[in-house]
Amino acid sequence: MQYTAAMPIDVAADVIWNRPLSNDYNVLALAAPAIAAAAAPGQFVMVKAGAGVDPLLRRPFSVFEILRDATGAPSGLTILSKRIGVSTALLYDKGQGQRIDCLGPLGRPFTVVDPPTDAWMVAGGVGLAPFATLAQALHARGVTSTLFYGARRGAELFYLDFFRALNVELVLTTDDGSVGERGRVVAPLDRRLAARAPSSAVMLYACGPEGMLAATARTAMKHGRPCQVSVERIMGCGLGGCYSCVIPMRDGHGGFHHVRSCIAGPVLPADQIVWG
Ligand SMILES: Cc1cc2nc3c(=O)[nH]c(=O)nc-3n(C[C@H](O)[C@H](O)[C@H](O)COP(=O)(O)OP(=O)(O)OC[C@H]3O[C@@H](n4cnc5c(N)ncnc54)[C@H](O)[C@@H]3O)c2cc1C
Ligand code: FES
Repeated sequence: MQYTAAMPIDVAADVIWNRPLSNDYNVLALAAPAIAAAAAPGQFVMVKAGAGVDPLLRRPFSVFEILRDATGAPSGLTILSKRIGVSTALLYDKGQGQRIDCLGPLGRPFTVVDPPTDAWMVAGGVGLAPFATLAQALHARGVTSTLFYGARRGAELFYLDFFRALNVELVLTTDDGSVGERGRVVAPLDRRLAARAPSSAVMLYACGPEGMLAATARTAMKHGRPCQVSVERIMGCGLGGCYSCVIPMRDGHGGFHHVRSCIAGPVLPADQIVWG
């Protein structure tokens, strides 16, 4: 297993702006140009949401967008945050000019394919986050891309015009059927894979809740397609020091071993993970 080697950068980043998308989701822009300049699609940052001891530890967030100044140089990055606990509640309420410790870029990024291989991204909820920069990288290479994107309801499907502007085909599902197909995002993925000629190469990329990732991995394996998943284990350090993020992977000899998903991942080959 090859680990990431580049030295991460730690900055006290000013909040440039904070845009709520719903009662739970917000996009936070951070003035961290050096991290933005070094980040590759699928990498993440460790963010300390408050100055005190609660929360004591930083939390991991995918790099969502790279912000650029008038010359095109990276000026900052954004994170897409879903409020589920103490840190994400603090991030939801951050104001312009407040400071946040931000460490990154961290982890192994996605391997970006080239034509004629197509790219199919599979996102569940806040699992959309790593796909904005990936879609831009795919677009720059001329790769034909599709985003399978599932959420609880239509109002929680974000940035659709962003992906449309990159010529990404959207396949949408919602739990309540308010937008797109009712049900899980893996259902249309399965149908599309079944209908696709085996000779047409496609790379799957997935990020979302672990149950969705496992279902996507099984679907990819059923159809004999490669799949890179970005796993979201709880991460105490993001640097390989605490072992809070381990995930079981096949060892090639019929057994398995645990790897630290913060440094061996978060992007991992789906067919090598031992899904629970
Ligand atoms: C590599 C990586 C990238 C991530 N990118 C994003 C992102 O772009 N946007 C985003 O909103 N979130 C992302 N996450 C998840 C995010 O790190 C957690 O939501 C965050 O740590 C929660 O912090 P909190 O203090 O608000 O919640 P806490 O108060 O720490 O926890 C609240 C509850 O959520 C549970 N929980 C916390 N983290 C996770 C987790 N990773 N998986 C399952 N349950 C969890 C806790 O066990 C607890 O029950 C990512 C995680 C990883 C590992
Ligand atoms: S988060 Fe600490 S070892 Fe992975």
